Amino acid sequence: MNILNRRPWELNERDVTPEGVFLNRRKFMTGLVAAGTALGAGLHMCPAFAEEDPSAGLYPVRNNPAFTVDDRPMTDKDEAYTYNNFYEFGSHKEISEAAQALPIRPWTIAIDGMVEQPQTIDIDELLKKMPLEERIYRHRCVEAWAMVVPWSGFPLAELVKLAKPTSGAKYLRFETFHNPSVATGQKQSWYPWPYIEGLTIEEATNDLAFMATGVYGKPLAKQFGAPLRLAVPWKYGFKSIKSIVRISFTSERPVSFWEQIQGKEYGFWANVNPSVPHPRWSQASERLLGTNLRRNTVIYNGYEEQVAHLYKDMKGELLFM
Ligand code: MTE
Repeated sequence: MNILNRRPWELNERDVTPEGVFLNRRKFMTGLVAAGTALGAGLHMCPAFAEEDPSAGLYPVRNNPAFTVDDRPMTDKDEAYTYNNFYEFGSHKEISEAAQALPIRPWTIAIDGMVEQPQTIDIDELLKKMPLEERIYRHRCVEAWAMVVPWSGFPLAELVKLAKPTSGAKYLRFETFHNPSVATGQKQSWYPWPYIEGLTIEEATNDLAFMATGVYGKPLAKQFGAPLRLAVPWKYGFKSIKSIVRISFTSERPVSFWEQIQGKEYGFWANVNPSVPHPRWSQASERLLGTNLRRNTVIYNGYEEQVAHLYKDMKGELLFM
């Protein structure tokens, strides 16, 4: 696999998908065969995600016009529902059917670590407490594809308030479920399951940091990371961890899933920047999913005004990888 001589628009997403970094050729080929099989199955797949979600009555929620995207079209819903990264269900994009195996009720979220009082909260209780709204966000994968998605959910800052972190807490560490019996990707022992991500408290309490519980006016479909996922649109998509079961407040910077696998390519900060290429491909432009359009990538994915101040005094940090 030599992607260095190709131009970005010639890249196949499977070439740049992070797992290609570390899998040996044999494992990689196995992955490709599995991807091919899933793709074949996908030809007969209808995007019917029928199971009723108990939170369905809450949606659609009020749109917040302060968060919108006006320079590119909303991504086609069917496209967004069937093109996902969720390695727990496979290291390819066609995981939407496999993800339906994930039981999402009962579902609890542990809030622990450096907080006044650790608690475990049921998702439906959490939904009752939180101010739900819809926000239209850009979503930019490190693999150089992008979407515009109408998330429903609540500001992460509200959850931080509920958690009451103690004064020494500097970071949030997020953890996805671990259940290899339904998520067959988690049987692959070379991945450091469960999926982990992290933010600083300042990032988590920024206005843009959002906990998504719905999408396209409906409860979050499982392939998007139901029932609760992060949406931090100024960062590469791998920071937006899905199907969260634990949020821990810590004084130490968490090591994320991809950082643990390949820290030289996927760092803690992962802020979008067109001028800082991934070690193996350019980040200068992006493909708009569901179209043939390419657009120039924008610093902080277009959210510079809202977030650049978070980083202005940081020296010696790799803010853009
Ligand atoms: N969260 C978990 N638990 N597992 C994953 O594999 N993939 C990440 C992120 N969150 C991932 C995850 C990556 S690489 C991206 S680009 C986005 O989810 C994809 O989100 P989407 O499928 O809703 O577009």
